[in-house]
Amino acid sequence: MQATLTISGKTRVFGCIADPIGHVRAPSVFNPLFEKHGVDAVMVPLHIPPAGLEAAIAGLRAMPNFKGMAVTLPHKLPIMPLCDEIGRQGQFVGAVNFAAFDDDRRLIGDNCDGTGFVNGMLAAGFPVKDKQVLMVGSGGAARAIAFSLADSGVARLGIANRTREKAEELTAAVSAGYPGVPVEVSEADPRGFDIVVNTTSLGLREDDALPVDPDLLDPSQLMAEIIMNPVDTPILKAAKAKGCRIHYGRPMFDHQVTIIAKMFGYDFPVPGSDA
Ligand code: ATR
Repeated sequence: MQATLTISGKTRVFGCIADPIGHVRAPSVFNPLFEKHGVDAVMVPLHIPPAGLEAAIAGLRAMPNFKGMAVTLPHKLPIMPLCDEIGRQGQFVGAVNFAAFDDDRRLIGDNCDGTGFVNGMLAAGFPVKDKQVLMVGSGGAARAIAFSLADSGVARLGIANRTREKAEELTAAVSAGYPGVPVEVSEADPRGFDIVVNTTSLGLREDDALPVDPDLLDPSQLMAEIIMNPVDTPILKAAKAKGCRIHYGRPMFDHQVTIIAKMFGYDFPVPGSDA
C-alpha cells in the first residue's frame, strides 16, 4: 500500500535506525498502519553510522515530538547503554530491537522477537505453556525465542544447534535466568517433544538441508517456523505431509509490530487479524 500521510506540525515522529539503511522494512510497515488506523504519526528511516549513535540518540532525546524507534543492525547492542531502562526480554537477550521515549524523555528499550513468536503461537491456538519444546538453532532469533519460551512456562526446552557450543552457552544462559525450567542441549531429534521450532536459516533456500528429519515427526506434533519467505518452507511441507500441525513464520513478525506499536502508544490489532 502506498502511504498518503499528511504531515503537519502536530505529527508525531518515529524513526528506524540502521546502517546501512536502504533495506529497512519498518517504515513501510508502520506508515501504512498509522494511516489505516487514522493516527497522525510518521516513521522515517534514520541512517546513523555507529560512530554517531550516541550523538544521534542525544539529539533525538532533545526533540519532544520524536517518540521512538525501531532498532536494527548494527545498533541493537550499542544502544543498550544509551537506554535509561531495558525491558526484561531485552536484558535477557542482550539486544534491543525497539526503543521509545517516555514523557520524561527517558529512553526505554526492549526486545520483542521472542514475545512476538510466543504471542503468535498463542493467537494461532498453540500455547507453549507446559509443552515440551525442541528448538533447533542458537542464533540471535533463537536466543530471544528461548528466553520467551522459558518465560511462558514450557515443561521442557531442548536446544539443538550445528555448533554445539552455542547451544550449550544458550542453554546455560536460559537455565540461569529461569532455574525452574528444565533446559537441555539436545540433538535435532524431535521424538518426545510436543513442539519443534526451526530458528535456523535452513529453509531460506530451496536446496537447504532440513533442520530435523521429518521421518521422526509424528502427527501429534506441531512444527513451527520463523522463516517468512518462503511461506511454506521445506520442513513445513514435510511436516504437513506427515500429518503434523504447522505454524508459519509470519505471525511472529505481525505480533512484534503490534508490541512495538503498543510501546509507541498505539493499540493496533495484530495485522492480519483485522479486516
Ligand atoms: P538469526 O539472527 O536470524 O537467528 P544467526 O544468528 O546467523 O541468524 O543464526 C543462524 C542459525 O542457523 C544458527 O543457529 C546457525 O547454526 P550455527 O550456530 O552452527 O552457525 C544455523 N544454521 C545456519 N546455517 C546452517 C546449516 N547449514 N546447518 C545447520 N544450521 C545452520
